Amino acid sequence: MTGDPTRWDASTAFRNLREQAPVQQVVLPGDLVAWLVTGAAEARQAMVDARLAYDMRRLPDARMGFGGRRCPDDIFSAEGRHLLNSDGADHHRLRTVLAPLLSRTAARQWKPFVTQTCTELLNGMVAAERPDLVVDYARPLAVRVATALLGIPDELQHRLTVLTLAMINAAAPEAPAIRRHRTELLGLWARIIGEKRRSPGDDVLTRLTVAQSQGCLSAQELVSVAWGLFSGAITPTTALIASGAVEIMRSPELRPLLHGGTDRDRLTGELLRLISPFPVATWRFALQDMSLGNTVIPQGAVVLVALAAANRDPAAFPEPDTARPDRVGGHLAFGLGAHYCPGAPLARMQAAVALTALFDRFPGLRLATPEVELRRQGVLVDRCYEHVPVCTSATTAADL
Ligand code: HEM
Repeated sequence: MTGDPTRWDASTAFRNLREQAPVQQVVLPGDLVAWLVTGAAEARQAMVDARLAYDMRRLPDARMGFGGRRCPDDIFSAEGRHLLNSDGADHHRLRTVLAPLLSRTAARQWKPFVTQTCTELLNGMVAAERPDLVVDYARPLAVRVATALLGIPDELQHRLTVLTLAMINAAAPEAPAIRRHRTELLGLWARIIGEKRRSPGDDVLTRLTVAQSQGCLSAQELVSVAWGLFSGAITPTTALIASGAVEIMRSPELRPLLHGGTDRDRLTGELLRLISPFPVATWRFALQDMSLGNTVIPQGAVVLVALAAANRDPAAFPEPDTARPDRVGGHLAFGLGAHYCPGAPLARMQAAVALTALFDRFPGLRLATPEVELRRQGVLVDRCYEHVPVCTSATTAADL
């Protein structure tokens, strides 16, 4: 992928790579060498293969990671462990604390809040001169739900979001401005957590703080888990809702599916597969020389599973670029195995409620700009559109 990253056509690039080989060595921006997995079968193997570690400290020599180069900053780590850079007992300990707080039952309790927030945001879109599905709907919804879930004070919501998005979408993670953001973010989290200790609430952050005082996780782990949870919740959920709406506008025959319980679940599943809001899973490190599919990768190799590529592998999904809600066979958009996304029930519910409310409120919803002009975030880990301007009336874009 070369040229303007906001215009990268990741689907075509991934298809070309997969057709060359389902596992191959690639050079990422910044000259980082990694093994990219693009085939669905190989991705499934990689997601559950215990020889691939999330924690690079488990390599025989930590300098092996990234071909002997310094490890690029793990932006969610406050020098501690979190779920996506830990394995085995450490990971299990953190997951045991967090997973019950995001269960299906817990997610269901958030439905009235999500519905109410959608109504407020849709009212705002009616009043907006040029409503934008990312800026006025999908992102504020995902941010409000994540801040309410965690119990983050309203006045810190905006700054926390700006800094988090700047970190995730940084072209150069080591740039001085990004380092300053990181310091400010750590300060904000320390302040929020300190406040939770002083005045506990009925929220996830309070529960994590209590778990920390009981010795279930360390102070650094608490910051890392909270930070990873916030960013892990807002970016893919925003992408799923905004890109999901674009997909439905492109294929109006999908709209009626929003009104049947099972149909809606299937449609959400297909949107997850097509969009793959978390396009590339967390890096993993080969603990030993090993085969992935038919490819041998060396000990110390950095392995990236391109979920967006695997989810469009025709060997697993016939007519991979078409939404077919009647499909059987699971997608990999939420990962697989021990690290399977614990926020999946909440994300699915939010997307289903948000998309139904959007098309119910604006039956004539249309893009206000040709689709080819939509730009995306310029990084591989977040391919969400930057803006999706829409016409909310029955007027067509051509009439404007
Ligand atoms: C459409 C929305 C979402 C998508 C597509 C998504 C996708 C994923 C994927 C693919 C992973 C596994 C990554 C890997 O193994 O390398 C993951 C992990 C995770 N996700 Fe999500 N996620 C979404 C929303 C959420 C939400 C709403 C939350 C929290 C409220 C959340 C919290 C987490 C956490 C904590 C992990 C780490 C789990 C572990 O390592 O055990 N995610 N997510």
